[in-house]
Amino acid sequence: MTVRKILTLPDPVLRKKSDKINKIDSNIKSLMDDMLETMYAAPGIGLAAIQIGVPKRVVVIDLSKETEKKTPIYFINPEITWKSNSNSSYEEGCLSIPNQFAKIERAEQCKVRYLDYNGNKKEIKAEGLLSTCIQHEIDHLNGILFIDYLSKLKKDIILKKISKNNKELERVIV
Ligand code: NI
Repeated sequence: MTVRKILTLPDPVLRKKSDKINKIDSNIKSLMDDMLETMYAAPGIGLAAIQIGVPKRVVVIDLSKETEKKTPIYFINPEITWKSNSNSSYEEGCLSIPNQFAKIERAEQCKVRYLDYNGNKKEIKAEGLLSTCIQHEIDHLNGILFIDYLSKLKKDIILKKISKNNKELERVIV
């Protein structure tokens, strides 16, 4: 297992649509192992493969607290099959948009169909934080980021902050 580099905005790869996986082989399993390791090291509670530059429909999520036993869920080719009409909102962040947060409204409950680590077909009903996290990660597979739900004004403020931070980082390197 290897900790991989997480891509951040404005990297255009984050806007790519990820491809379906046809065969779960050892390459896909080691990709999932690396993703989990990378997510834990960040630390974060969810990661999509595109965030480490791999445009494949794979997501890992673990909502366990640091002191609790780890409970990773691996989603291959996840698809949302149902969303509740009621919404909930969380202050969302993203490992690919460091230090930026915004309140985002999403379906409070959803059902998701996917293949697990061993290729078994699964469908679960998620609610609350897990529901939000699944929707956020599946968005990544379609090149969508949480800032896309914000007004143009709020989105521009975040994008400006990011480019400012990047410039400051360059100064330090130079
Ligand atoms: Ni994210």
